[in-house]
Amino acid sequence: MTHVTPIRGSAGAVTVRVPAKVNLQLSVGPPRPDGYHGLVTVFHAVSLFDEITVSEADRTSVSVSGEGGPAVPLGPANLAVRAAAALARATGRRGRGGAGVRIEIRKRIPVAAGLAGGSADAAAALVACNELWNAGIGPDELSEIGAQIGSDVPFALLGGTAVGLGRGERLTRALVSGSYHWVLAFGASGLSTPDVYATCDRLRAARRASGDGDPDPVPEPELNTALMAALRSGDPAAVGPLLSNDLQPAALSLQPLLRRALAAGREHGALGAVVSGSGPTCAFLAADADAASELAVGVTGAGVCRAVVQVTGPAPGASVVSAGAIA
Ligand code: C5P
Repeated sequence: MTHVTPIRGSAGAVTVRVPAKVNLQLSVGPPRPDGYHGLVTVFHAVSLFDEITVSEADRTSVSVSGEGGPAVPLGPANLAVRAAAALARATGRRGRGGAGVRIEIRKRIPVAAGLAGGSADAAAALVACNELWNAGIGPDELSEIGAQIGSDVPFALLGGTAVGLGRGERLTRALVSGSYHWVLAFGASGLSTPDVYATCDRLRAARRASGDGDPDPVPEPELNTALMAALRSGDPAAVGPLLSNDLQPAALSLQPLLRRALAAGREHGALGAVVSGSGPTCAFLAADADAASELAVGVTGAGVCRAVVQVTGPAPGASVVSAGAIA
């Protein structure tokens, strides 16, 4: 975590930068009694960042600007607002007054894109309020509070590359060599994560019913050890073919145009092409920065997505970038 010593006081403001994630492996088990699915996933934070500034205020408010801003709820359903409230409760500020906070979110991570943008904003709010209030909550407790807001919040706090178990909230850092160059292709519209999981369950049940050999019950997922070895080697050509996502067939069935986006990435030299998380963002792995630039141009020219960005990973988790008195 990058830290700048804050100047504390009632007029203080803290700005935190937080990364998007892609899933290098996303293996989904059967639905659990609580409605979630047991996962084995490999999270990878990439250099596409949202920024959040928090400052003290009498009442909590939130404003959102940038990529997909109008789609983000501004009331108590906002994940950053929920995170600030959860931290206020955990630190005993709630009820004593002084839990009001003005939250400004500047978005570059698209909404409902499979990049954990909402969880990222929640993670940023936790780190920012922890600093603003000088609350001194350690990383483990922050992660526990975050997991109650969203399954991907603990990873947005941690960053880097990590194996996620449970709902994705139980994390172990992964050993990764070098830096990876990615092209992300954003879909024209978003996908709802619960819809994609439900579609995954439906497709699996239909395949079982048709007797085409899908295992029944759905097996518990396992970590792809070949992928982990490839990540340790630092060779994108080894990593590319091992990218996998059990939610991809569901995302493709909900947005069939994604097939063309994946094909365009492969045609223009991607070493690996995969839908990120519940989609619809497609992540393409390139050999190096030059190959990523060519890939970005090719995918843009294919006209199969709304926008294309080049990023690198792994990127650091939610970090304070500035803190001090408001002028
Ligand atoms: O944890 P989060 O709020 O991000 O999850 C959103 C929804 O995605 C859940 O309500 C659930 O429908 C689905 N989900 C799941 N299994 C997971 C993570 C999310 O079924 N491991």
